[in-house]
Amino acid sequence: MASVIIVGTQWGDEGKGKIVDLLTAYADVIVRFQGGNNAGHTIMFDGHKFILHLIPSGIFHESKKCLIGNGVVIDPSVLLQEIDNLTSKGVSVEPGKLLISERAHLIMPYHKAIDLAREAKAGKTKIGTTGRGIGPCYEDKIGRRGIKIGDILDQDLFRAKLSETLEEKNFYLEKYLGAEALSFEEIFESYLRMGERLAPYVTNVAVELEKARKQGARILFEGAQGTQLDIDHGTYPFVTSSNTVAGGACHGAGVGPTTIDEVMGICKAYTTRVGGGPFPTELSDDIGLHLRERGGEYGSTTGRPRRCGWLDGVILKEAVRLNGLSSLTITKLDVLSGLDPLKVCVAYEYEGERLDNIPGNIKVFSNLKPIYEELPGWQEDISAIKRLEDLPENCKNYLKFIEEFTGVPVNIVSVGPSRNQTIVLR
Ligand code: GTP
Repeated sequence: MASVIIVGTQWGDEGKGKIVDLLTAYADVIVRFQGGNNAGHTIMFDGHKFILHLIPSGIFHESKKCLIGNGVVIDPSVLLQEIDNLTSKGVSVEPGKLLISERAHLIMPYHKAIDLAREAKAGKTKIGTTGRGIGPCYEDKIGRRGIKIGDILDQDLFRAKLSETLEEKNFYLEKYLGAEALSFEEIFESYLRMGERLAPYVTNVAVELEKARKQGARILFEGAQGTQLDIDHGTYPFVTSSNTVAGGACHGAGVGPTTIDEVMGICKAYTTRVGGGPFPTELSDDIGLHLRERGGEYGSTTGRPRRCGWLDGVILKEAVRLNGLSSLTITKLDVLSGLDPLKVCVAYEYEGERLDNIPGNIKVFSNLKPIYEELPGWQEDISAIKRLEDLPENCKNYLKFIEEFTGVPVNIVSVGPSRNQTIVLR
């Protein structure tokens, strides 16, 4: 392992947390490059349960560096809460161990207020955002009126930028969304105070990454969400506001594509989706319920029940193409035990025509009929199996089918939430 990017191949929640945690053991530097505190990993450490939204789980290892790249949007109060929570339970979060890009944009109170008021106003047509201000923050970044973490370390610059922006935000909140205006002084004071606390962590992450690479460090780029939530390539507008595909690691951390050695795609053995938007293989029957209950498919950040369905091979092939995947990791294979037959979507049908790729038109995508291939299932509990050869024959065939259909080798299979419930194939 030298420089490896990990991405989700579906709509997020593929179980990346466990795999990132496993691979962290082999990495020297772990980097977040997009998204915000809408991602969430639950990590057990030293008898304590930690939910980390922004800080990579590498923070639990003494010798590793955790970097938050420029592509991440940061809610400073959430970040400070994570730092305080870790510190109070004896986990060291020293500056130098955690580094934050000076160019990362900040989620401001008006971003959260706008996010919530918009979803409330939209009613049935809402996107299903987590209401954390992430989308509105990315809007301001692209609109060139964002406030970066480096900006709040310079009082005069911050005052000028905030006063210019807040006037417009308050007008929009009050007049269009019918929400309350926000106070300049309150935001200014609280963000200055948070900036003072975060200042020791703030640096040029791209420079740090170059230094680390030149010293031969093994670097793990940890993607959040999944390929189908990518702002450009996903099921727009039911997507997140950042580039979740592997290329996002380059611009979201400040490294060139030639520095990347491997791209690993994490794929759940079936499909889930949170919030609105098309989902061709969705099951609203007992099988869908089996997947939700056996797989514990409830949002780790919001607790929302996830929509569940069969594995969608078309989406998986798209993930192979968009990310340039060099390997696949299949998670939650244990959840399929007891289902027979299993189905995998291999193409779609639209108005009598076969489609082998995802259509760009959201209306067409919302009205597709999946074309399934049936595979025999298995009844055995596989959650204690440690070697590929000990898996039931039909289970091995399921994995083989995925490899042949996508043309990408499966390198890891996860059969349960713990670290030791993992089968490494190659
Ligand atoms: P993302 O970064 O969005 O993928 O979040 P995540 O990695 O935390 O995924 P998710 O929110 O879906 O959480 C995964 C849950 O499934 C956690 O509770 C894990 O402990 C659990 N889990 C991970 N891998 C497996 C597995 O192979 N089998 C089972 N049964 N559970 C698993």
